[in-house]
Amino acid sequence: MRFDVITLFPAQFKALTQEGVVARALRRGIAEIHLRTPRDYTADPQRAVDDRPYGGGPGMVMQYAPLRAALDAARADAAAAGVSSRVAYLSPQGAPVDQAKIVEIASASGWVLLAGRYEGVDERLIEDAVDEEWSIGDYVLSGGELAAMVVMDAAIRLLPGVLGHADSAGQDSYASGLLDCPHYTRPETAAGRGVPSVLLSGDHAAIERWRLQQALGRTWERRPELLRKRGMNDVERQLLDD
Ligand code: ADE
Repeated sequence: MRFDVITLFPAQFKALTQEGVVARALRRGIAEIHLRTPRDYTADPQRAVDDRPYGGGPGMVMQYAPLRAALDAARADAAAAGVSSRVAYLSPQGAPVDQAKIVEIASASGWVLLAGRYEGVDERLIEDAVDEEWSIGDYVLSGGELAAMVVMDAAIRLLPGVLGHADSAGQDSYASGLLDCPHYTRPETAAGRGVPSVLLSGDHAAIERWRLQQALGRTWERRPELLRKRGMNDVERQLLDD
């Protein structure tokens, strides 16, 4: 899978591409991330890519032309590599990205991600060249870079071969539509507290039941709206009642 990112701050992406799960996926050739700055596509001698907003007000707005040229170049490069990419703009005005959306994103062969800065980007670019607008949460970041990294991390870890079998994404919190159950590791006693005895029992069916019950209970307590949306089968309803 291929991501092309349009950003004024390509160095920020080192956080994602130099170590960890995503870096390993890139090294193995399972995913590619190509960074491109609109500053390379401006005719301005100062390489400026922003200007003051029409109508006045604080902040600066990213201009149409350099962003459009960078987007077109990214899409053309992807197409030359046999990848047909849609364009997504990261912004607090976008549609909320949840795990189901991440699964959909990860099933595409490529995306061009536009990370905005300043007060935003010229609306005409969004109208002309953006297919989707995504938000990672109801708060305002100082730019779309972190949001783009969040989306790429969540999508790339789902690609076949990225995670080992043991920590496969199928075990994730949210893969089941539930929050995760609690986890414990050695030692058996930490700060005077033990481990739930079922986990030491060796009874795998009982352990699975306990984990599902914990996941249901936590989701019910902490995120009831997730549980309402997902629904429960009879076995799950019984476990939650017990
Ligand atoms: N850019 C700034 N804030 C953002 C958010 N919450 N989600 C996506 N992109 C953003």
